Amino acid sequence: MSREAERQSNRIDRFFAGPGARADQWCRLMEMADAWSNGTGERAAFEAALAEMAPTEEFHAYPGLQLIDRLREYSTANDAHAAATLTRRVTRAILTRSFRQSQSDWDVHDEGEAVAPSSLHPALTRTEAHRPYFEVLIVTSAPAARWLVLASEWRRLRRPLDPFIYEPVIVGSFEDAFCAAVLNTDLAAVVIHEGFAFRSRHDAPILRTLAEAADQRETPDVSALHLAQALKRVRPELDLYLLSNGHVEDIAGSANAKAVRRVFYAVEELLELHLAILEGVQDRYDTPFFNNLKKYAQRPIGTFHALPIARGKSIFKSDWIRDMGEFYGLNLFLAESSATTGGLDSLLEPTGNIKKAQQMAARAFGADHVFFVTNGTSTSNKMAVQALLAPGDIAIVDRNCHKSHHYGMVLAGAQPLYVEAFPMTEYSMYGAVPLRTIKQALLNLKAEGRLHRAKMLDLTNCTFDGHIYNTRRVMEECLAIKPDLIFLWDEAWFGFARFSPFLRPRTAMGAASDIETWLRDPMALVQYEKQRAELGENPSDDVLLKTRLVPDPRKVKLRVYQTHSTHKSMSALRQGSMLLVKDVEFHSVEAQFHEAVFTHASTSPNQQLIASLDVARRQMELEGYGLVHNAIEVALDIRQAVAKHPLISRYFHILGADKMVPEQYRESGFSDFLDAKTNWAVTHRSMRDDEFCLDPTRMTLVCGTAGFDGTQFKGLLAERYNIQLNKTSRNSVLLQSNINNTRSDVAHLIRVLVTIANEIDQRLTQGGPHVRQAFEARVKSLMTDVPDLPNFSHFHAAFRKDAGKQTNEGDIRGGFYAAYNPEGCEYIRLRDPEIDKRLKNGPDLVSANFVIPYPPGFPIMVPGQVITQETIDFMRKLDVKEIHGYDAAEGLKLVRADALAKRAEPVKKRVA
Ligand SMILES: Cc1ncc(COP(=O)(O)O)c(C=O)c1O
Repeated sequence: MSREAERQSNRIDRFFAGPGARADQWCRLMEMADAWSNGTGERAAFEAALAEMAPTEEFHAYPGLQLIDRLREYSTANDAHAAATLTRRVTRAILTRSFRQSQSDWDVHDEGEAVAPSSLHPALTRTEAHRPYFEVLIVTSAPAARWLVLASEWRRLRRPLDPFIYEPVIVGSFEDAFCAAVLNTDLAAVVIHEGFAFRSRHDAPILRTLAEAADQRETPDVSALHLAQALKRVRPELDLYLLSNGHVEDIAGSANAKAVRRVFYAVEELLELHLAILEGVQDRYDTPFFNNLKKYAQRPIGTFHALPIARGKSIFKSDWIRDMGEFYGLNLFLAESSATTGGLDSLLEPTGNIKKAQQMAARAFGADHVFFVTNGTSTSNKMAVQALLAPGDIAIVDRNCHKSHHYGMVLAGAQPLYVEAFPMTEYSMYGAVPLRTIKQALLNLKAEGRLHRAKMLDLTNCTFDGHIYNTRRVMEECLAIKPDLIFLWDEAWFGFARFSPFLRPRTAMGAASDIETWLRDPMALVQYEKQRAELGENPSDDVLLKTRLVPDPRKVKLRVYQTHSTHKSMSALRQGSMLLVKDVEFHSVEAQFHEAVFTHASTSPNQQLIASLDVARRQMELEGYGLVHNAIEVALDIRQAVAKHPLISRYFHILGADKMVPEQYRESGFSDFLDAKTNWAVTHRSMRDDEFCLDPTRMTLVCGTAGFDGTQFKGLLAERYNIQLNKTSRNSVLLQSNINNTRSDVAHLIRVLVTIANEIDQRLTQGGPHVRQAFEARVKSLMTDVPDLPNFSHFHAAFRKDAGKQTNEGDIRGGFYAAYNPEGCEYIRLRDPEIDKRLKNGPDLVSANFVIPYPPGFPIMVPGQVITQETIDFMRKLDVKEIHGYDAAEGLKLVRADALAKRAEPVKKRVA
């Protein structure tokens, strides 16, 4: 392998290479073909590039063996013009994806020029009903010389009635099948014939590294079932079919056959197989609720219930609001209804197509049950907290979590035991909570004989800024201390992660499934017993904190919940959210969940929202893998472009893992996606093993070095350049790539950053010394004069009547309702010297409500919390305008000392 090839194969973005990287390769080939054709380039360069691409091109149906052979023939015949024409045609077809619908793209004899692709949005150009297209991987023992014939046999099975159209992709080995599953995002099904080889027929190191990175090393086991399991691990959504000439009954009965959709006896069954493939895809394509809603919308229904907007007559007949109808289109109003019968279903008590849609979502997201929620994850979180916690239960909670959890605790009467994430003071944000802190909290509760009251661990994965927990490790180690602990993972931002093989093991459901497998393995008990023997009868806390704890598989009750904002990372309408359940004790809390649904869900849930959840699930099951690949690729493109642009990088930079995750939590030694020394193996190890890793799609762009605070920069991008961002910190903004982004979006962002950097540069060069001094002072103030982040102090004793000594849980609900008594509350302005006097001499300043500044967006005060000097210093330094729960004119709302004393009285009496 040449040095250049070696460098390329180790480059980190190849690890995540998706459709964009392939399109780039074709564009480069096109440039080489053009250069050769117009005399500015060499045939050899074209041939070398084609040879380098050829092995991975075999994993895609288009352009296919015949067109690639045709390119080789033109090259051998030294026909530069024909090679350039065909390369252009293929490249255009790949870029515009036209080969999915256009037969002429496949034509080996069409020597014509490519027609320029339409630049119109697909929604505007579609004229006829189109059949969705996918590809099927055929793993065969047939010699490569027969593959063309095999492919045409498959194509002969097509019928005009088929709802979908697919193309076969043929490979002959375990390695090639594995790599094709990773690289070909169009695959929807795999047919495995027994008897294939292990090694690829190509000696392409890039393929081997890819396979090895996912632990697929050479092994004597080349059975179809082994391959099926390997493929399922990468892409669980693929339908797998197994063809055998042997004992199909034995195979079908094997425990490992779970990964396979159907087992067929030999090749005579080709038509059956074809129908099974279509049925398998139909199964994922089906959207029970959306389908019914569409049917409902077409029925001539007279409505005598509320919701005049339904059917749209009040809109379209009106002179005054018709524009609303014209804007949204008739279908929206035809599909509006408050009915729960007549083909629709009730979200509150689903028995029909909503129930089915939820079951399909459970399959797609790896859960046992799913609840659709139409008021955002804010509601999903409150539902989970209410259903799982009773008054007095203790929940270990990241203090930095979304406010819905805090409010959930207030509603449930549960006692939050706040744990702190590691601070990232320079950027005014928090990371995630170290496992050691969580274990310490559990061990403290145990020491005080209060572990039985700790019901739940409630964490955010990934955090707003992209810190991903090692979910499996967290759950296993906590279960080693408390085997029935419930886990609530708020994956508001991370729902898409299910569809990336790199991220899935770090999701709540991915890790729960791995733990489930481990619990079934007889080796689990052996591992547990071994550790128990090593640790002895009563290991010290210190030893327990240092050890990677193994739970007792006989005692573990796996109880995992996940919430996600489907609307944040998938194609659901705003507020579409899901609550996922994988809980062996679910039967014992199911009734409570129904109560939680009744408490929080509207009795008039929006039909379009429910339909969009159904459709978002369909999309992710059929194309989520490719879309997520693309989102990651786009993020890596942005990271690269910002880092390497001389002007942008003078003022802006995106924080790497080395800046976002302290070294002690990156045991793999991984530093950043862009680090020249980083290769696939290290990245893979980091994603698998590190205590925290970074979601590549969430990028913290530091703008303080360009003289902007986060809010200011966000406003500038929105107002002047039509670029919208989400979160800001004092000196940074958060960029996020998602399944919607294209490379044109990246180009726009980079261009805007260049423009802004250019303006700063000009201002500094032309403005003279005082402008430069002012700029430097501003940068210093944003980047170095940052306030320390205040930790949670403690609840006031009046709200800790039954709390432990070493643990900081408290009665947040008591604190919250203290604010309902106006006589028991007082206000003091932030700058009033009274604050400083009280901090020094007492009585305690006790917050009567939540105070949540945006940014950073976490509560610096919760009801009942004692306010410390740290918190006041932080607030006084804060220069943000939006602070929920605080009105600068009124001041801080506090619980008065006499009201606190009254609350504490019964305790005093009891003690006396
Ligand atoms: C971690 C986290 N959880 C929950 C939510 C609430 O989600 P939703 O906006 O879907 O109500 C958010 C919103 O930003 C969040 O960041």
